[in-house]
Amino acid sequence: MKLQLARRYCFAASHRLHSAQLGEEENKRIYGKCNNPYGHGHNYVVEVAVSGPVDPATGMIANLSDLDAFVTCEVLEPFDHKYLNEEIPEFRERVPTTENLCIEIFNRLRGFPRARLERVRLEETSLNSFEYTGEPAGSSR
Ligand code: NI
Repeated sequence: MKLQLARRYCFAASHRLHSAQLGEEENKRIYGKCNNPYGHGHNYVVEVAVSGPVDPATGMIANLSDLDAFVTCEVLEPFDHKYLNEEIPEFRERVPTTENLCIEIFNRLRGFPRARLERVRLEETSLNSFEYTGEPAGSSR
């Protein structure tokens, strides 16, 4: 029996899309107004899905309060109301697109001790979202 538990969280953060691997003009062309020097913000919605057996004693895959505490510590506290480019070390060299942010959140949550992390889905706006399920087993990261 495989059962998944999914829970949604919200945080607000700002970023600037700018790649050090591209020139000024190319950055402007590719990222448009998202390349504006002073950044812009999003209200991100992140959905975290974990799986595991249902504990016969509790009837639960994992206690939501344990998941909440872990997500708060690993993602919400470090990211909420932050400028991702400067305040999250992983984005000093890597462009904080929602793709990269989704992968970073997955990597931060993969150590959840109470259940197996299956998926992180990140909504940047109500119109676009990204989903990451980790690298296939056996592939190098
Ligand atoms: Ni943006």
